[in-house]
Amino acid sequence: MTIERVQPEAPPSPERSPALVARGLRRRFGRGTTETEILRGVDLHAEAGEIVTITGRSGSGKTTLLAVLSGFDTPDEGSVTFHGVPAEAVPWSVCAVLPQALGLAEELTCAENVALPLRLGPRPTRAVDVVVSTVLAELGLAALADRYPAELSFGQQQRVALARAVAPRPTVLLVDEPTAHLDADSTEAVLAVLRRVADEGTAVVAVTHDPAVREVADRRLELDGGVLLPV
Ligand SMILES: Nc1ncnc2c1ncn2[C@@H]1O[C@H](COP(=O)(O)OP(=O)(O)O)[C@@H](O)[C@H]1O
Ligand SMILES: [Mg+2]
Repeated sequence: MTIERVQPEAPPSPERSPALVARGLRRRFGRGTTETEILRGVDLHAEAGEIVTITGRSGSGKTTLLAVLSGFDTPDEGSVTFHGVPAEAVPWSVCAVLPQALGLAEELTCAENVALPLRLGPRPTRAVDVVVSTVLAELGLAALADRYPAELSFGQQQRVALARAVAPRPTVLLVDEPTAHLDADSTEAVLAVLRRVADEGTAVVAVTHDPAVREVADRRLELDGGVLLPV
């Protein structure tokens, strides 16, 4: 007889370094006289279980920062680590992103979009359908599961992209203006999901203009002049 053992997840050790640490990030665009340095030495850390918000005027570099943190873009200088491991050495599933441009697969239904990282990830989830329908319901999208992104409003698509990001329970979740296109009810659902995933151990970094998002933050930062400052 074989006994199937379910490996419990290793509990986070208190000595472990923060979920996310960025040191001295610099990012420049353009050349010669048109060169501008958007990130000028950004230091940031986010611990498991906390929500950190980053505000800043339009064009201050918030989206650029999230792109560098997520590995979508490469900094000119500086480093990003996840629990002390260099970003380039961690599996893609460690860090999930809700980008400003949502990047949903148009040929997949909403439910299929959310299921995708679960099916591709290193820890295959047996109950993919249950996870997908639960998170879609949590975000008020249950009735839209079998629709295609093009059949949804932008705000609905944004919540599908958030569902896709949180479903695999990433170590770090980066969200860019997560409530920018939402009414009050949907905003409340999104904030509840951010709080839940943080409470379950994810480190959440949210770029936002929305005071409602700042209200749920454990720590608030502002990107100003290319550096992050506490507010
Ligand atoms: N790939 C790029 N090439 C050149 N300039 C860029 C690029 N990406 C961003 N920028 C510039 O960097 C600045 C910051 O942009 P962004 O990070 O999108 O700001 P925010 O998200 O805070 O509004 C803007 O002036 C933008 O034009
Ligand atoms: Mg932006």
